[in-house]
Amino acid sequence: TTIVFFEPDGTRREVTANPGETAMEVAVRHGVEGVDADCGGVCACATCHGYIDGAFFDRLTEMNETEDAMLELVEDQRADNSRLLCQVKIGPELDGIVIKLPGVRR
Ligand code: FES
Repeated sequence: TTIVFFEPDGTRREVTANPGETAMEVAVRHGVEGVDADCGGVCACATCHGYIDGAFFDRLTEMNETEDAMLELVEDQRADNSRLLCQVKIGPELDGIVIKLPGVRR
């Protein structure tokens, strides 16, 4: 499964996900800039915020209340297609997903 990340400076990074990984784990494993993942993936930091491109957004599992609350912490950067990448499990249906990382983070 391929994921295309756009780093905060616009650099395009095409990387491969292993089955069962989250988008956050894939980004960290490949050293993608812009994903700090301070809490290690337990939905408690919002430093894994990303924007999910187009049709792929609708294929994701729904956001739970914890993720919604965490995204409020980055309210000024939040968009309709915002998700926390540690909550995005990558499966075959997401092959080719494009994720843009916020340009300026707190
Ligand atoms: Fe902390 Fe995703 S890694 S909320």
